[in-house]
Amino acid sequence: MEYLDGISVRDAEPVLAESGADRHGLACVLLGTVLRQVMLEGTFHADPHPGNVLVLRDGQLALIDFGSVGRLDPLQQAALRRLLLAVARRNPAELHDSLLDLAQASRPAAGDDLLERTLAQFIAQHLGLGMVPDIAMFNTLFRLLTDFGLVFPPVIATVFRAMITLEGTLARLAPGFQIVEETRKMAASWLGEVLGPASLREAATDEVLGLLPVLRRLPRRFDRITTSLERGTLTTSVRLLADERDRQFVRSMAGRAVLAFLGAAFGIISVMLIGARGGPLLLPAAAGTGGTSLFHVFGYAGLFFSLVLILRVIIAITREGI
Ligand SMILES: Nc1ncnc2c1ncn2[C@@H]1O[C@H](COP(=O)(O)OP(=O)(O)O)[C@@H](O)[C@H]1O
Ligand SMILES: [Mg+2]
Repeated sequence: MEYLDGISVRDAEPVLAESGADRHGLACVLLGTVLRQVMLEGTFHADPHPGNVLVLRDGQLALIDFGSVGRLDPLQQAALRRLLLAVARRNPAELHDSLLDLAQASRPAAGDDLLERTLAQFIAQHLGLGMVPDIAMFNTLFRLLTDFGLVFPPVIATVFRAMITLEGTLARLAPGFQIVEETRKMAASWLGEVLGPASLREAATDEVLGLLPVLRRLPRRFDRITTSLERGTLTTSVRLLADERDRQFVRSMAGRAVLAFLGAAFGIISVMLIGARGGPLLLPAAAGTGGTSLFHVFGYAGLFFSLVLILRVIIAITREGI
């Protein structure tokens, strides 16, 4: 809340014309500041009209009048950064994903592919080579998305209103200033910082380049899932054992468990039978032996049966490795 010694951009035309200031440079600084507020800081001046931007005596710019301020959460900032990069690279798939990130209702009614194709058309119509896009194209874009059932939080509209206001201020500061083009250049340099062009070029061998199309889609899918998780909108519908193979697997596992249990039970009972004394005699006791009782016969038969069962389970396990 300090006094700023300067005149507003609305009245600064004579001063700017006389002083021979670097008007394009000043406009770039102002644009960079607002973009930084939106993309990185999350709190931005929502009304940067010419009356609210001062040119100070020392040639610096100053923002006043914070009566209208927008606040973005980190997810919205990230989505806006991606939107900026998508526009900078004229990439419909990235544009599509960043817009879905921004939207409140995240599923377009008419399907992803159609939306992506529509966005590709939009890029061709508004961001083609040699075209001079202005911020108003985002109005067209948002109207188009409304038809797809996408709804955006009010603060996103505030961002684009602020950018349209800023466009007017920039035009006063530096006539002919191309806001979208300059934004694209800034985005490219920011992107360059992130990727580190030198290291990237070294690493980009033919094999890696061949993998890129696959790799590029992976994070998109993954990112969408994690974002849904963060927002709590991820819904899954899983029917337990819906697949026939799963049922088969469970059946065979249960079958084996029953066999193994029976085998062990027979084994234990058989051993007890063999060790038991008494019982009806089948063969008369010869000299030196206790004779063969019915218990023994059942015992040995049971032991054999138990061995067969356990062997079956062991063979099944070793054959299938489960
Ligand atoms: N910090 C300041 N230093 C110098 N002048 C200021 C400052 N704040 C406001 N002013 C002057 O007051 C005018 C109106 O202030 P502002 O905050 O823009 O209110 P409003 O909401 O009416 O636009 C500005 O155009 C400017 O001339
Ligand atoms: Mg004001």
